[in-house]
Amino acid sequence: MSFDPNTLLRKHLINLKSYSSARDEYTGKEGVFLDANENPYGSAGVREAYNRYPDPYQQEVKQAVAKIKNIGAESIFLGNGSDEPIDLLIRAFCDPGKDKVITVPPTYGMYEVSAGINDVGIVKVPLNENFQLDVKGVISATGSDTKILFLCSPNNPTGNLIRKEDLFTLLHEFPNLVVIDEAYIDFAPDAGFLPHLHRFPNLVVLQTLSKAWGLAGVRLGMAFASPEIIVILNRIKPPYNIAAPTQSIVREALGNVLAKEKMVADILEQKNWLEDQLAALPIVQHIYPSDANFMLIRVPKPKETYQFLIDQKVIVRDRSNVMHCHGCLRITVGTRTENEALLKAMALVKEDSFVN
Ligand SMILES: Cc1ncc(COP(=O)(O)O)c(C=O)c1O
Repeated sequence: MSFDPNTLLRKHLINLKSYSSARDEYTGKEGVFLDANENPYGSAGVREAYNRYPDPYQQEVKQAVAKIKNIGAESIFLGNGSDEPIDLLIRAFCDPGKDKVITVPPTYGMYEVSAGINDVGIVKVPLNENFQLDVKGVISATGSDTKILFLCSPNNPTGNLIRKEDLFTLLHEFPNLVVIDEAYIDFAPDAGFLPHLHRFPNLVVLQTLSKAWGLAGVRLGMAFASPEIIVILNRIKPPYNIAAPTQSIVREALGNVLAKEKMVADILEQKNWLEDQLAALPIVQHIYPSDANFMLIRVPKPKETYQFLIDQKVIVRDRSNVMHCHGCLRITVGTRTENEALLKAMALVKEDSFVN
């Protein structure tokens, strides 16, 4: 497949001279550093020293990610959460007021929000009732101005993997950029698309450390793509987009893959248990199959149930206003104690006591 991201790039970015930081101009580690207007004495009020700017290209973190994901460091972009590459991809490839992105609702809300912030149009091709792709619909919605197709597998908020054959079909058929967001892939019985990255120059795979790795507060998202796409993202990103504490915590965390795998196994065990327990509750009308660390359930009165649970100090997500999610609450799998608290509160819900 021939695809050159530079032909898709917004014209004014082709010759953009990106900011050259102090750490771009001198990359050595030794010396007396008087080039970045940093404070030489250390950091006020904390024991650790954060007075130096971090590595703008996060080389050591990327080496660690490369090893775990079995992918070249030149195919990795690191962002302040995966929300950052979502925004950067739109900014790089979509002309405001002219171009569009395709989304397949119900899906993760940030694709639409980021497009909106950038004054980029949205073409929505809803998933079918089984939360799978309308492949023909996506193809017929495709035009020269639909620059990015955002797909999410396992999908949020529905929790299911998208059929792989359909994703392959769209990777072949969609002429522009295909983003597959795999924020929840570590929980799924599937290796995702990283092993296929080299076959599709128009593919960007997004992953994050916020879920399986338990590092949502640290903010580290990953975009995997051809080196040509990564160069473009690096050119338009803020110079020091990954903070020094984040880089050092992530380096430490990535050294312990087993700890991540143990947590994933525990969460999956809890998920199975929770599904069984929820299925036994009369108010739970349906539990949608999930390949993630959350599940969508349907109840007769979602808003009232949501509020009742809050009153019991159990917070879930009301998704009942979302397309195809009528009656649905999204529940993240917690620890056994948290899941028991949820079940205890759910068992107290008495539908007929809700005022209509
Ligand atoms: C599908 C999906 N993609 C991306 C993100 C954002 O993750 P991050 O914390 O890396 O910004 C989320 C967060 O919930 C998500 O559900």
